[in-house]
Amino acid sequence: MYKLRVPDAQTFMNTSAPTHPGSPYGTLPTSTVPASRRPVSLPRLREMHSQGEKITMLTAYDATFAAVADAAGVETILVGDSLGMVCQGLSSTVGVTLETMKYHTESVVRGLRRVQGTAWVIGDLPFGSYQASKEQALHSAVALMQAGAHMVKLEGGGWTTEVVHFLVERGIPVCAHLGLTPQTVHALGGYRVQGKGDDAAVLKRHAHELQEAGAAMLVLEMVPAALSAELTRELDRCATIGIGAGMGTAGQVLVMHDILGINLGKMPRFVRNFMDGASSVREAMEAYVRAVKEQSFPVDQQHGW
Ligand code: KIV
Repeated sequence: MYKLRVPDAQTFMNTSAPTHPGSPYGTLPTSTVPASRRPVSLPRLREMHSQGEKITMLTAYDATFAAVADAAGVETILVGDSLGMVCQGLSSTVGVTLETMKYHTESVVRGLRRVQGTAWVIGDLPFGSYQASKEQALHSAVALMQAGAHMVKLEGGGWTTEVVHFLVERGIPVCAHLGLTPQTVHALGGYRVQGKGDDAAVLKRHAHELQEAGAAMLVLEMVPAALSAELTRELDRCATIGIGAGMGTAGQVLVMHDILGINLGKMPRFVRNFMDGASSVREAMEAYVRAVKEQSFPVDQQHGW
């Protein structure tokens, strides 16, 4: 039975304990962190993946919501370029800049530090910040890592393999993203399901190449449930994180505004409004975490293709 990891106020306040033995160079003292509040790390995520424990991911773009998501037990926070739409009012993610991503990543990381949060933070590389060359990708990834991200995410397959390898070799954990890749929405002809028919083989090949290149995670967006379940079984070193990709993935991600029912447009089919029956944002986020862990969300027939 999955047990929710909820810190008490004392855990948040405790700053008097000696330096954590794992922190080199005598930096700021940290609290003695109880086992249940150890920072989420790449080894921990790998362990969850290999043990079949579903990984929870949610987007957050500012300090307060990031802290609430962390307290609700969300393990990985994606500072997604979806902020272009939900925070900036853009019609797609294409207009989001690296400066903006840095600003929001810093805000999220500051919020987590204030509450001694444990979530793993993923900074989304925006459109135009990694397409020109491997060196450009490294420069942009360094900017987000220095803003406090633990990992960067980039979209696409094929040409991105080389870029992912280049970043991973230089010590930057990478989350890849296949299927519906919103930064290329104009090339794809709209927000539609990807990887159907003959396209499935291409998507599979790209996913395997990305694993070989060292991507530790792979977001699969709007991909048929059967295909993403098959890929999840095949990829043993890369955890698939689905959004509209069925229940067979190693974890799930949703945009925070969507789970809180404040999508002002048409709610995508793959979303559930977790504010239904919740009396606070934190409760809604806890319900999301619980549903993913217990595998009651998503439901293939209802949320998938
Ligand atoms: O930018 C974002 O929020 C994303 C998720 C939808 C996966 O890429």
